[in-house]
Amino acid sequence: MSVEIKTIGILTSGGDAPGMNAAVRAAARTAIYKGMRVFGIRRGYAGLLANDMFEMNIRSVSEILHRGGTVLYTARSHEFNSREGVQKAKEVCVRNGIDGLVCIGGDGTFRGARDLCNSGIPCVGVPGTIDNDIACSDYTIGFDTAVNTAVEMIDKLRDTIQSHARCSVVEVMGHEAGYMAQAIGVASGALMTLVPEVKYDLDRDVVERILYTQRSGKSHFIIVMAEGCGSSQDVADFISTRTGIETRVTVLGHVQRGGIPTVRDRVMATEMGARAVELLEKGNGARVVAYKHGEIMDFDIDEALSMKKSLDLSVFEMTKMISL
Ligand code: F6P
Repeated sequence: MSVEIKTIGILTSGGDAPGMNAAVRAAARTAIYKGMRVFGIRRGYAGLLANDMFEMNIRSVSEILHRGGTVLYTARSHEFNSREGVQKAKEVCVRNGIDGLVCIGGDGTFRGARDLCNSGIPCVGVPGTIDNDIACSDYTIGFDTAVNTAVEMIDKLRDTIQSHARCSVVEVMGHEAGYMAQAIGVASGALMTLVPEVKYDLDRDVVERILYTQRSGKSHFIIVMAEGCGSSQDVADFISTRTGIETRVTVLGHVQRGGIPTVRDRVMATEMGARAVELLEKGNGARVVAYKHGEIMDFDIDEALSMKKSLDLSVFEMTKMISL
């Protein structure tokens, strides 16, 4: 698909992630620099269907680089997930003279972008999700801020569980993947991290580790658990029944999605947002921007959606050896 792009739309879709604003800013300013008109589309594909958009200038994206969330708002649209929805979205683009889109979000956002591409509107996806679960990319915008937020919270929890000699089961986000949990577990020194990718046995992997380290003098215990691993309350109840140690659950929840983006997220988002526009400018629709082997690159959107990513199990094993 090679069309001259004169006007682009930018949208954020799915769960918000810190750094999305930096990507919006970079995409808008790169496009304006290149002489394009730019529309900011509110509420993702839902807003596109509702024609909810505004024309942007270089000042429209002032003072957003350091802000969490997304100034374009976000949503998950059921209507868009149908042939009719995609056709309607295409018509809205055509009516507004939008001949290319930058779609910032996760897998669901990319599937939407692929469908719109197939209907004739060039789209480039930018990976924005705290989960870091986009297969074609080693990094997704928001991950660094989210894991730092979680680790900061666990550092605080450590003070209270140490004072009470308790066990703390901390449930973290990550959708169905353990990328967040693994990074958080390593950085917070959790005694054990439960991830959906690795089958666990609570007696062997949690209770025995607690009792073993207790015998070595440890008096407080942090268990990090990915949300995709089941009920954190059940795990906590199991631990207290088997060990007699008072155990509390903390579900960090959506606090992990907010906050000021870290430098890493701002830099990644800026590079990725700019790259998305450069791809559209060159007539490359149907692409996804990625960070792979230390470089910003891009993949065909179908190829990106068919790729698989897996958790680094050597890190998982190494952590079990160290976090005692
Ligand atoms: O994809 C980001 C994420 O925060 C996941 O980690 C989590 O499973 C999900 O979104 C929560 O979604 P919602 O905002 O609909 O509660």
